[in-house]
Amino acid sequence: MPPGTGRADPYRVWLSEVMLQQTTVAAVKDYFIRFTTLWPRIEDLAAAEDARVMAEWAGLGYYARARNLLACARKVAETGGFPDTRTGLRALPGIGPYTSAAIAAIAHDQPETVVDGNVERVVARLFAVETALPAAKAELTALAETLTPRKRPGDYAQAMMDLGATICTPRSPACGICPLIADCDARARGIAADLPRKAPK
Ligand code: ADE
Repeated sequence: MPPGTGRADPYRVWLSEVMLQQTTVAAVKDYFIRFTTLWPRIEDLAAAEDARVMAEWAGLGYYARARNLLACARKVAETGGFPDTRTGLRALPGIGPYTSAAIAAIAHDQPETVVDGNVERVVARLFAVETALPAAKAELTALAETLTPRKRPGDYAQAMMDLGATICTPRSPACGICPLIADCDARARGIAADLPRKAPK
């Protein structure tokens, strides 16, 4: 996708986000390629037989996701395409607050704030939030919302997730190559690797 154009295919963004729920990028990769080869458009997936889709899903786990996937594909195919607002997306089977924000931002370039575990960690460190998770969730989401730009919000959302996955990692963050080092309160205080704090289980 050319940067800033917000023209990622909503079908592919949706499929990848559903597959990535509770599953790593490495584990999802081959499944994503297989699904999009077998069913290049949402209408193709909607027309597939349940048993075939479940068989292709085998190994990804959490089978409720596959059932919701089909229900969602059929609804979207029937209505002629994905809604382009977070609220419209949220009404579809299997699409929660995170996935609706991710599709609205990444596929439709809407200024929605996407907060997953990676983004929570980046924000906790940028603002040196010392409140432990999960109590800190609402505070971290509110802080994340203050950062979302009006310009290229989709690229921004993807960049924050990738920053958390590759540089601002849970242990031994690579602060030396972080583009946000000058703005990071936790780094300035020498506590980046200690955040976010987690409440004892
Ligand atoms: N995990 C879930 N969604 C993701 C995304 N858009 N980029 C990277 N990792 C993800």
